[in-house]
Order: sequence, then C-alpha cells, then structure tokens
Amino acid sequence: VAPLRVGIAGLGTVGAEVVRLIEQQGRVLTERTGRSVQVVAVTARSKKKRAVDLSGIKWAKDPLALAADPEVDCFVELMGGAGDPALSAIDTALKAGKSVVTANKALIAKHGLKLAKAAEKHGGALNFEAAVGAAIPVIKTLREGLAGTGISRVYGILNGTCNYILTRMEQEGLSFDECLKDAQRLGYAEADPSFDIHGHDTAQKLAILASLAFGTQVAEKSIYVEGISSIAPEDLKAAAELGYRVKLLGVAMRTAKGIEQRVHPTMVPKSSSIAQVMGVTNAVTIDGEGIPPITLVGPGAGGAATASAVVADIADVARGIRAAPFGRPVDKLQATEKAPMERH
Ligand code: NDP
Ligand code: HSE
Repeated sequence: VAPLRVGIAGLGTVGAEVVRLIEQQGRVLTERTGRSVQVVAVTARSKKKRAVDLSGIKWAKDPLALAADPEVDCFVELMGGAGDPALSAIDTALKAGKSVVTANKALIAKHGLKLAKAAEKHGGALNFEAAVGAAIPVIKTLREGLAGTGISRVYGILNGTCNYILTRMEQEGLSFDECLKDAQRLGYAEADPSFDIHGHDTAQKLAILASLAFGTQVAEKSIYVEGISSIAPEDLKAAAELGYRVKLLGVAMRTAKGIEQRVHPTMVPKSSSIAQVMGVTNAVTIDGEGIPPITLVGPGAGGAATASAVVADIADVARGIRAAPFGRPVDKLQATEKAPMERH
C-alpha cells in the first residue's frame, strides 16, 4: 500500500508536536492503519529553527502551495484563525480531493458547513477531533459512538486556559494576569487569548458539539457568551466560603422552544464531579435519552494533548475512513432554532 503523504501548515505548539509524534509513533501507526504515514512537506510563517527535526521534509512556499501540492494526500492545517490563509488552503485541498485534518475550532465554527460540503462533493475527509477538548475523543463519541442515541444536553468545561486560570487563582491566590501569562507560556492559550478569557473559544467548541449532538447547523451566533475576565481571586474565595467553585461552562440543550446554547461562569457545588475538574483539564457530559449521562475527562489544551487527536484523525485518513464531518449529510442538518435563555 502506498504511504499516506502528509503536509502540515503551522509548526507552532501543536504542529511541531504532530511532526514529532508521527516520527515517534511511525511503526505503531503503520501497524494500526495498514499504511505508513509520512510527513513530506511543511510550512509556517517564518523559516526559523524549530524544536523538531525537519531534515528530509520539503518546505512549501506558503499554505496554499502546500494544499495544492500533488505530492500531498492529507493536508493538516495547524495555523489557526477563522479566515485566510487557513480557509483558502483547506478549501483548495478539499477541492483537489485531498483529506484535511485541522484543530481550528474558530474556522470550523464559522465555515464548517461550507467546508463539509466541499469534502462531501470531492470525496476527501474533513476531520477536526482536536478542535474540541484536545485529546478527549468527544467528536467521535458524539458522531460515531452515540449515532443511535437521541441527545438532550451536552455541557462542560471546554477551555483549558480558563480552567487553569480559575484553578490557580483559587488555590494560590494569584492574580488573573499572572495565571494567563503562565497559560500562554505553557502553550494553552490561543494566539489572541481574548478568545479564551472572553468565552468565544468555548462558544466555538460548543457550537460544534451542538451541531453534532442535535443535527443542527453550526450556529455560534446563537450562543449567549460571557467570559471570566472580570473574576478576581476574592470572588473565588467568596464562592468557596459558600461551598462553591466557579467554572466557565458551555451548555447546549434541546428545549421545547429550540436549542438553548450558553457560555458563562457558573457556581458549582464543591462536592459535584464537575467541581473536581482542575487545571488545564476539560470535561464534557452528554445526556443521552434512555441512558445515564456519559462524562469524558482529559487534557483540554497543550501541544502533546492536541497532537494526540490530530494524529488520530490522520490515522483515520490512512485507514480510508470518511465520516460525515457533522455526523450526517450537510443538507440534512436543520437550521438552529434558538431557544430563549432561561435561568436554571
Ligand atoms: P501557534 O501560534 O503556536 O502556531 C501557529 C503556527 O502557524 C506557527 O508555526 C506559525 O508560523 C504558523 N502560521 C500562522 N500564520 C501563518 C500564515 N499566515 N502562514 C503560514 N504559517 C502561519 O498555535 P497553536 O499551535 O497553539 O495552535 C494551532 C491551531 O490549533 C489553532 O487553530 C488552535 O486554535 C488549535 N488548537 C490549539 C491548542 C493548544 O493547546 N495550543 C489546542 C487545540 C486546538 P511561525 O511559527 O513562523 O510564526
Ligand atoms: N486555547 C484553547 C484552550 C486551546 O485553552 O482550551 C484548546 O482548544
């Protein structure tokens, strides 16, 4: 069987780890997929020295050239940003019949349907497991694992940076800014961390989960969003004295009036399981009809955790798996009926 030739655009926190993981796990990937996986070309903004060995790998002029390269079968987008060059490069790769893997929730939340349509039309896969919950296989769980189950609610802690900040502010009394700086240094935060702290990253992830859970079109604009930037250590102390912890939650639920989606800081009882989720860890609970809730917990950000899901998506491409990106054909996704916000 011919090797799967992978091209990677973006060699930052995630991209460099993906190159390293494919190199390290090469033999295992071949055993598991029946095909060898080779990184044949990469690109980034600058040609600076990287933490990972790129010898023998071609340097593409730019992301579009990489996406169009006939020697690349699978285009991996790890640059970020909801517009170009990520959007045009993915579109180019899909229209050339290639498969695409991305960790870019901002792009999938905004342009996912259009890209899924291109994937459908031209026969490539569009995989984005790493876009939500990093190493936690929550997309596959909703799309494949629960394909036969009606879902009434999906909620949880979806942003590692915010949970890390809230944890350290509560446990160590550190300032918001100090904790955010550490989250950036550790590679958890977005290039523009306002997406994390103002709740938009959580909203983008929630929009993707809601689409998969309810068979609706991704609709980030339908989400009520409030972040954590005005929370101080004193607020967390006051909550603790009352027996609560503050968590930034994303909640999407089916109601009689439509799909309610919201993101905001929430006081949760200290004894609840969600209150035990600390640091960069994420947790997602899925309420399926007729079965007890399922909760997935794991590392929600960081190079290694995210690379784990990106490489799993590449392995699916090597296996020849072509799942409908949102779990069903794009024209079967319903328009999202936004339910009015209610107090819970
Ligand atoms: P980084 O900022 O660390 O890396 C971005 C990379 O993309 C860099 O190598 C940069 O080049 C390259 N790049 C940016 N713009 C361009 C451009 N116009 N042309 C070519 N290359 C470009 O980001 P991350 O690795 O943290 O994140 C990448 C993606 O993964 C994002 O979509 C993010 O949301 C997502 N993600 C990140 C997670 C994390 O924990 N970090 C977790 C889950 C998803 P250069 O190095 O030369 O500047
Ligand atoms: N900035 C994101 C977070 C990365 O902190 O959760 C993972 O998607």
